[in-house]
Amino acid sequence: MIPELSDDITAIEDFLQQALPDEPSIAPHLLEAMRYVVGGGGKRLRPALVVATATSLGEHREIALAPAAAVEFLHSYSLVHDDLPAMDDDAIRRGRPTCHLAFDEATAILVGDALQALAFELVASAPQLDEVSRLQMTALLADAAGWRNMVAGQALDIKETGKQDLDIGTLDGLHAAKTGALFRTSVQFGCIAAGHADDDSFVSLSRFGDVIGLAYQITDDILDVVGTTDSLGKPAGSDTRQKKTTYPALIGLDESRQAAYQLYEESMDTLSRLELDNSPLASLLEKIIDRSH
Ligand code: IPE
Ligand code: IPE
Ligand code: MG
Ligand code: MG
Ligand code: MG
Repeated sequence: MIPELSDDITAIEDFLQQALPDEPSIAPHLLEAMRYVVGGGGKRLRPALVVATATSLGEHREIALAPAAAVEFLHSYSLVHDDLPAMDDDAIRRGRPTCHLAFDEATAILVGDALQALAFELVASAPQLDEVSRLQMTALLADAAGWRNMVAGQALDIKETGKQDLDIGTLDGLHAAKTGALFRTSVQFGCIAAGHADDDSFVSLSRFGDVIGLAYQITDDILDVVGTTDSLGKPAGSDTRQKKTTYPALIGLDESRQAAYQLYEESMDTLSRLELDNSPLASLLEKIIDRSH
């Protein structure tokens, strides 16, 4: 890994650990399950995006760590709920039994609820950020996580499971909502942390986040077909087994690869126009494009 990126990941891992509750609780098994979910690995790409955006815009990494942890908590919650029997019914996540199997279904639902609330708590009370930034981030996170985006995308995904009859434009909307919005928010958090909430770079980088988020979900759909359970750390072929509406199911593998490639090209263009093509964000983008898991 590129040295500065691996330093970012180390700082993010440390921050995640210390942001998890370790006070006495009336439900210690809930805290244990939260630690199991968050500590179980994961590529940490969304928090890395927050940090890389902020540092690419000249800010110190430390200012971006609380919002970075917030997006990772939000994302981790979404994976726990996504794996539940009522949703994708998957048994492996990040190379280990999914939360509802390692603990039980009720605990998994509640872990998700708790991680989501913790994400909002982190951005709303981050001591490194001024009040306006905290409020902007809270509103952006609510938009990405809620009825307009992630939850809506997941609702349509579940409704369409077994049908595979969407047109590709509607599938783009589904992917943009369930995955793209949190990528956009991650980049926006980096901009806000760096004091760029109100300028042209915020607009361009928001679009950049949307584009890589969509490409990321297309690649996730491709990896479900061509990856292995060992390398992915989650069950390969799960989408095919459930007849999920995915890019490869609708247009085939080759066209899906082309679509992802075009979106990544667009995102590289954005960085070069912003003169960020030699930045931590560009290095991270390279890593995202090259991923095999
Ligand atoms: C998986 O996300 C779910 C999608 C939105 C594609 P990641 O591939 O980022 O999963 P982790 O965090 O590395 O486990
Ligand atoms: C999940 O998409 C997106 C979320 C918002 C959690 P997937 O169902 O494709 O994610 P994986 O493949 O299980 O990681
Ligand atoms: Mg799913
Ligand atoms: Mg899933
Ligand atoms: Mg998937």
